[in-house]
Amino acid sequence: MSETFYITTPIYYVNDVPHIGHLYTTLAVDTIARYKRLRGIDTFFLTGTDEHGQKIAQAAAAKNLTPQELADQVVTRYIALWEKLGISNDDFIRTTEKRHIETVQAAFELLREKGDIYPGDYEGWYCTPCEAFWTETQLSEGNLCPDCGRPTVRMKEATYFFKMSKYQDRLLKHIEDNPNFIRPESRKNEITAFIKEGLKDLSVSRVTFSWGIPVKGDPKHVVYVWVDALINYLSALGYTENSPLFQKFWENCTHMVGKDILRFHSVYWPTLLMALDLSLPKQIFAHGWWTVEGQKMSKSLGNAIDPFYLTDKFGNDQVRYFMLREVTFGLDGDFSYKALIHRINGDLANDLGNLVNRTLGMVNRYKNGVIPAPNPLTGRENALYSEVERLGKEYISFMDETAFNKALASAWGIVGALNKYIDTEKPWDLAKNSPERLDTVLYTACDAIGILSRLITPFMPETALKLCGELGVPHIARFSSAEDLLAVKTLKPGALGDIAPLFPRLDPAEVMASIKSDPQKTAPKAVAPESLIGIEDFSKVRLIAGKIEAAEKAENSEKLLKLSINDGTGVRTVMAGIAKSFAPAELVGKTVVFVSNLKPAKLMGVLSHGMVLAASDGEKHSLLFLPDTVAAGTPIK
Ligand code: ME8
Repeated sequence: MSETFYITTPIYYVNDVPHIGHLYTTLAVDTIARYKRLRGIDTFFLTGTDEHGQKIAQAAAAKNLTPQELADQVVTRYIALWEKLGISNDDFIRTTEKRHIETVQAAFELLREKGDIYPGDYEGWYCTPCEAFWTETQLSEGNLCPDCGRPTVRMKEATYFFKMSKYQDRLLKHIEDNPNFIRPESRKNEITAFIKEGLKDLSVSRVTFSWGIPVKGDPKHVVYVWVDALINYLSALGYTENSPLFQKFWENCTHMVGKDILRFHSVYWPTLLMALDLSLPKQIFAHGWWTVEGQKMSKSLGNAIDPFYLTDKFGNDQVRYFMLREVTFGLDGDFSYKALIHRINGDLANDLGNLVNRTLGMVNRYKNGVIPAPNPLTGRENALYSEVERLGKEYISFMDETAFNKALASAWGIVGALNKYIDTEKPWDLAKNSPERLDTVLYTACDAIGILSRLITPFMPETALKLCGELGVPHIARFSSAEDLLAVKTLKPGALGDIAPLFPRLDPAEVMASIKSDPQKTAPKAVAPESLIGIEDFSKVRLIAGKIEAAEKAENSEKLLKLSINDGTGVRTVMAGIAKSFAPAELVGKTVVFVSNLKPAKLMGVLSHGMVLAASDGEKHSLLFLPDTVAAGTPIK
């Protein structure tokens, strides 16, 4: 049977639009999947979206949408991004799909029947942003979440528990017996220490909200969002019907995740799989965290880089190369435009781009655009080829260890060796005095560029395709073995295709200035298109200046003030819910902004003709005061 490989990204939360941190996990997995296919290994690559949970219900409510509406909108951004980047996933799963809901319910039921899931009451601390439970001893000071530092809430509610504690020793032994189960090593040590502190049974259902997968036979419970989400890896392969896909790929599964969600993948998930009597993933790899110019990426800081913007401006392959070359995979990395431009101009334009440009340029100039057949090779070609083979093997072993930046450094070793070969052989001199040597040198350089086009395929698929087009050879995305992939002297002499510079050089000052003035560079917040209004809608609202002539507390109300407002034509009564922030006397004589064409409404028995505008955090109000010089009735636009 042929070798198989199943690789997954975490499924992305739909309460957030994608930023470059999200892009990273998917780029890494796409690169591995492409590499495995290049090696001739049958590969199944899964990604998708995580759509349930309180956090998403809350985000949707804040936008006046149903959770499903929010999910439907955000998911399109993820799908569009993966399409734009040519991500080669074999499936995309949404946790709101029927196939997933049924799988989660079936797994839950199986564990209930087995007694590994049992009913009880949960009392503890819950962090809603992380959707995670914590014990008293795990909390940071002030009852803050030890992961994200935000406040947790004390919860007591009916819940189902999963007997995670039962699997503690088996999990520890598995980690010990399988040194590559959790990578990198430092993360493995963290997880081992966490397990040794003692695994408690896990609360795996919630009753206080309904946006989730209902437990069969007890539908007031919805399945805990992490259990729901993790099971996606089984749903997509068709676990419940033991489909051929499941039989083929599950046995050789690798999960790629960010370090923030490693605990869920390497503790909760393997113990659940043990309970389900399924084999464990071969590896769980935790990559590091991207910051931007030294700062954590966040919506509130407005620095979450939008991957659409970045790839539009710099090119898909340039961004892919940068993210996987710049940092050691597994460690944290910092994004800066300066570093990106530096890599593009150095590694891509100067090193690779220049090598290809000048080599193919010489084939055009000296050989009328036809790659010549080589004459007998000399020791110099043999030395170059053995360097290509050595670095090619090094590339393969680094790729097998998921050491992207080292693998790229090996490939760039070939770029360097080739540039040096051309500098030493000087084809421009050979063209004048040694036509036989010229053919050999040009052929050898083109042949080695052909090898490079294969090695960069996983990282820069568009460039690899272009390179093959320029060399006039078909692009091969799958070889039968590593030896085939690295085989030299396979290029067929023949006509080049169309040639264009691969990587235009960037002017750093110009690019930096254009970025500075561009408001689109940060990831937009997920705004529902239908919640946007046009100017014609806004112009229906008549805002005018009004002078408060009298103010008093409304009867039987702690919140309301009754205001008499001069609107330029007469005095009208307006009720305002600002009594906790203003004493009536301090408002008399003030000019405020108010909506004058609101339908009259009765508030505490008084007919109110309009609404004053105030900034409010729900508790405190600040009125929009206008200067006294603005006459009552002045329109505000
Ligand atoms: O965690 N740097 O989804 P998510 C690097 N739905 N990686 C980052 C990052 C950053 N600044 N920000 C996010 C979830 N990521 C769950 C997964 S799986 C069953 C459920 C990575 O949308 C993060 O580490 O918050 C994770 O791997 C991925 O983006 C999705 O994060």
